[in-house]
Amino acid sequence: MKRINHYLLLLPAILLSSCNAQKEKNTVSLKDSYKNDFYIGTALDANQIEEKNAKEDSLIKKEFNAITAENIMKSMFVHPAKDKYDFALSDKFVAYGEKNKMFIHGHTLIWHSQLAPWMTEIKDSTEMKAFMKDHITTIVSKYKGRIDSWDVVNEALNDDGTLRKSVFLNTLGEQYLVDAFKLAAAADPKTDLYYNDYNNEEPAKREGNINLIKKIKAGGGKIDGVGIQAHWRLESPSIEMIEESILAYSALGLKVAFTELDITVLPNPWDLKGADVNQNFEGSAKMNPYPEKLPDSVQVKLAERYASIFKLFLKHQDKISRVTFWGVHDGQSWLNDWPIKGRTNYPLLFDKDLKPKKAYQSVMTLKETKK
Ligand code: XIL
Repeated sequence: MKRINHYLLLLPAILLSSCNAQKEKNTVSLKDSYKNDFYIGTALDANQIEEKNAKEDSLIKKEFNAITAENIMKSMFVHPAKDKYDFALSDKFVAYGEKNKMFIHGHTLIWHSQLAPWMTEIKDSTEMKAFMKDHITTIVSKYKGRIDSWDVVNEALNDDGTLRKSVFLNTLGEQYLVDAFKLAAAADPKTDLYYNDYNNEEPAKREGNINLIKKIKAGGGKIDGVGIQAHWRLESPSIEMIEESILAYSALGLKVAFTELDITVLPNPWDLKGADVNQNFEGSAKMNPYPEKLPDSVQVKLAERYASIFKLFLKHQDKISRVTFWGVHDGQSWLNDWPIKGRTNYPLLFDKDLKPKKAYQSVMTLKETKK
């Protein structure tokens, strides 16, 4: 009896301590685990910016300390007509980041995709120069001191490292690259300015990217960082190739950010690499092998792939400013519709029900074992 009483007396303390342990477990998050290494970001769609889903919203606030707008700051949305800007959603996006004390990244100023139709019709250099000046100056000054970094130019390179024949190159020649960075720096001298691309960890494109950065600097442009989009696959690119890229870009004095990280687990049509949003392919059952559930074996592969990538990121955390996932959870990923519409992909750390996947645990475990 005496012994039972003794335990009864201790019971509240035992319950409290297990409750605290539980609480601790619940408060462990990506952003806290990696807080001394780099920002952990996510891309937000319009509903998330507007906090439409309370469960998603609390997950975003718990796990991430950096945000990028997945679409709403692209020129077709923010600058739909020559004399018309629409900042309704980007105002909300910036306010969301400020309210939650997050690092706010602007995506993107000069990009050949998702342009408003009127922009694609610009044929002449005078008109294009005027567009660039107005577009960059208006947007960057509007958020001066509030947006921490910008993708000034997105995807100016071909995979072989040559310059993409975009509407900008065609009308202005390569000087447009230097001018874009100069205009952004003039509008907000303190924000960090990035060049962002996909496949720029591959040797040929990396070479082209290095030349491009040197050209921007030689022309008097201010450039602070390079964004590697990181739309990757289970088997490629190799960790060595990613490491060589981190070293090569940071040797130029730039910050390296991984800006749109996701890993497709689905077959790739014609071995397609990269993230050209204009490419689309026909669907078939063979190309959509896991419509209901991801098999455990692939779940494990994805977890191992994420672990080796984050292990490398930790090794070079002094050179890496931010790692941003392209979406919060699998259900919203653009990879469900690109490059084939209507597939079920599993590229992120949270599943469509917002549950952490094995890949989440593997990324977290890297930090636990380091302690
Ligand atoms: C994608 C968005 O995720 C999709 O919703 C949209 O339909 C197309 O663009 N590189 C980029 C991103 O820089 O802006 C792209 O985002 C993915 C590839």
